[in-house]
Amino acid sequence: MYHFYTYGDLLQEDFRLHEPKAKLAVIGNPIAHSKSPQMQQAALCSAGIDATYIRVLAEDHEFEGVVSRLRELKFIGANVTVPFKKRACTLATSVDQAAAMSGSVNTLVFSNEDIKGFNTDGAGFSAALREATDIAPPLRGRHIVLLGAGGGAGSTLACQCALEGCASLVLVNRTIEKIHPLSESINRQYPNVSRCLSTADTTALMHAVRKADLLIQATSLGLRETDPLPLPKEALHKNLTVCDIITHDTPLLRLSREQGLCAIGGGGMLMYQGACAFRLWFPDKDPNLTAMRHALVVTEQP
Ligand code: ATR
Repeated sequence: MYHFYTYGDLLQEDFRLHEPKAKLAVIGNPIAHSKSPQMQQAALCSAGIDATYIRVLAEDHEFEGVVSRLRELKFIGANVTVPFKKRACTLATSVDQAAAMSGSVNTLVFSNEDIKGFNTDGAGFSAALREATDIAPPLRGRHIVLLGAGGGAGSTLACQCALEGCASLVLVNRTIEKIHPLSESINRQYPNVSRCLSTADTTALMHAVRKADLLIQATSLGLRETDPLPLPKEALHKNLTVCDIITHDTPLLRLSREQGLCAIGGGGMLMYQGACAFRLWFPDKDPNLTAMRHALVVTEQP
């Protein structure tokens, strides 16, 4: 279990972080498992920036208070994770296109006047896919099936697919009612690009995957080794690239590799969303990707 601070800790009058010049945090609940501090600290050290990046655990009623306190303490920004990404979007005084479209923010940049909100998850996913496939831009013209489109990560990736100009996007979710507004919102900007499918409609799902060249797995299935596959294994075919946003090896990734498909895990997305956030906090510095990748590997937990 890694160290984290609570709102109560931040409110202590003698709260100090050995006075580094730059202070950063990741806010969420739970937060002890977050690998962002190791990854960002590696990039900060490598860039020669005197900074500290901490975990902050916020209870449901504390999120806005935590952000306000971090600003008082002169933090330069923060990452925001589950379950506060939507509230961070509401709190921000301005947001980028990805955040506006998905209604969720994972990176905040503070100044005296305002709070800028960004969502780097989609760009991070895209960068990881580009690195793995050597195709740029990696989502343009693709026929995509997105499993778990109703989840926080899934809906953000759906927006990224549309923003980058995918050819078609089949949004799949167990609870289909959740994804109708997302599909409508995407289709308002990109007419007829997306449609909705229920996970339970396996015949239609198999058909959609057979016509697709990219499968994105954004459900929580695969977090546990005993989880069932998120789709019938017969749906996989040799022209399919399979991306699972879960950061460890999953049964779906293993099966895809066994069948000779290009299979990409979520580690790259985690690293690149962090690299994009780093550039927002330090526009004149480049994050050291090798150091960030190394920090993620060495801090891998069982
Ligand atoms: P995150 O924010 O990390 O994406 P989430 O918002 O809890 O996590 O989303 C989890 C996703 O996994 C959702 O799409 C969820 O489907 P529902 O919206 O119907 O809940 C999906 N999911 C979770 N368990 C599932 C299961 N057993 N079968 C199919 N989909 C599942």
